Amino acid sequence: MTTGARPIGHQIIRLPEAVSTNTLVLESPEYLENHGLVVIAEHQTGGRGRVGRDWASLPGRQLQFSLVLHPPLPREQTPLLSLVAGLAVGNCLTRELALRPLLKWPNDVFLGARKVCGILLEMKMQGGAPRVVVGIGLNCNGAPEDFPPDLQESLTTLAHETGRAVNMQALFAALLAGQQEAYDRLLAGQQTALLEEWSAMAALEGRALIYPTPEGPRPGKALGITEEGHLLIETAAGATHVHHSGELEWTE
Ligand code: BTN
Repeated sequence: MTTGARPIGHQIIRLPEAVSTNTLVLESPEYLENHGLVVIAEHQTGGRGRVGRDWASLPGRQLQFSLVLHPPLPREQTPLLSLVAGLAVGNCLTRELALRPLLKWPNDVFLGARKVCGILLEMKMQGGAPRVVVGIGLNCNGAPEDFPPDLQESLTTLAHETGRAVNMQALFAALLAGQQEAYDRLLAGQQTALLEEWSAMAALEGRALIYPTPEGPRPGKALGITEEGHLLIETAAGATHVHHSGELEWTE
């Protein structure tokens, strides 16, 4: 089933360069009105990550794209889109490349101890309705050594993990199909199954982490996720804290 008027990727705008595909889409009312539009750039000069981080660009060796969604979901469910986007990337890497990705809340995709994909989900109200921009950056070809020195230990690429060059066009098509499938399932009410699948790929129960509080960073342990996709953390005092947003540091 395809939910929504047009499928994801019904129109694809390909650019040799953009500052940030997410910014480009967010700043264009016309793009934002186009559910399913995808904007992909070979290179980003100012790629953005979550919590104000930069996203490093390797020209021609990453898939860096943004897609527009008009989710007919209650506002409290929109954070689920973020988890579902990460799950769809993880499923795609499993199916297409026989990899075993690990999801880190809310939507980083890791291979072993290194991050291979980051997702930045942003929302803007337009005409009284939420317009969601899902920005995906996936390190395909090249090697960790191609990144700036401070990132080389923490990032990886698909080519590095598989030992083979990645056919980026084929993978891009599979990623869009995977996003469509996951989005359709969410809108069809399969939220519980999706969250179970997310949890299975995240293996987060009991994982030690440091979470931000108004009083500063605190240690805790991941317990699981809520039906809305928020993270449940066991505090050092044994209480349960519901974490909505803000950067976590995974210490194991
Ligand atoms: C993160 O890891 O913190 C999220 C990274 C998201 C990067 C993608 S690349 C395409 C889109 N445009 C951006 O500026 N960011 C996202």
